[in-house]
Amino acid sequence: MDVMKHESESNTEMTVVARCCFGWLTLVAEILLAGSLGLILYWVFNYHGGVAFAGDGSRQMNLHYVLMVAGFTFMNGHAMLVYRMFPCCKKIYNKIIHMLFFLASAACIAIGLYAAIDAHNEGPKPVHFYSMHSWIGLAACGLFALQFVTGFFFFLVLMLCDSATAKFRQTMIPTHVTFGLIIFVVAAAATLTGLTQSARYRLSGKDGKPNYKDFPEQGIVVNVLAMCIIASVIIVPYIIRNSTYGRYTTLTIN
Ligand code: HEM
Repeated sequence: MDVMKHESESNTEMTVVARCCFGWLTLVAEILLAGSLGLILYWVFNYHGGVAFAGDGSRQMNLHYVLMVAGFTFMNGHAMLVYRMFPCCKKIYNKIIHMLFFLASAACIAIGLYAAIDAHNEGPKPVHFYSMHSWIGLAACGLFALQFVTGFFFFLVLMLCDSATAKFRQTMIPTHVTFGLIIFVVAAAATLTGLTQSARYRLSGKDGKPNYKDFPEQGIVVNVLAMCIIASVIIVPYIIRNSTYGRYTTLTIN
């Protein structure tokens, strides 16, 4: 009897500790995702004149930076964390929020990509997709589109034949989750190469521009942003993949 009591107390204690760790990790993840978006907004609005949708190449590129970080880091990160953040809510509400974040993410990515391509078209000799950044970026966009289409088909369209497809949908979840994390990492690589490219151009030390090597204030902003992206690439997959949190990470479809 005593043994059983002890076991049940220690289980409860484990759950409390796990919940506490989970709460702290989620808070840190939230700070990193929101911090990344805040820092890119601060960089383009405070130092580079804000954003434009057309007619101003430099500001259109600013729009590209903001929307890519908003779509691939902020929205995508939240879309993945949503199942872990509200375990008390009904699964269907989590699904709807997950889908809304993905839709917002897809809209940001599509407009952000258009902004970069259109900004490049403004020069006398438009060149596209020459850099390592643009190749990694295209890979991230392609994988995202694939995930979006397959996710839509497997988890929404197939729900029309709910009982007949339940088992199949259940088996697809680990692949969907792993693929989501891979996209998050590839997108982080695109963001970091994009940031490096922009920082080297905008902090070249020529034509009155600050010199990156002199540790200008905006150089520090860009570097801190890069650190936030790297930290979020560590912490978000850790939260999603760690099984210590019991039901917080239990994958069920209905
Ligand atoms: C996951 C996020 C991102 C993706 C998927 C992405 C994707 C792309 C793509 C496909 C291009 C090529 C457009 C063209 O050739 O016409 C491009 C251009 C560019 N991007 Fe990004 N981008 C991302 C984030 C960023 C960020 C955060 C920055 C900087 C703060 C940035 C800076 C640039 C620059 C400077 C170019 C023009 C030079 C080039 O074509 O490489 N990008 N991006």
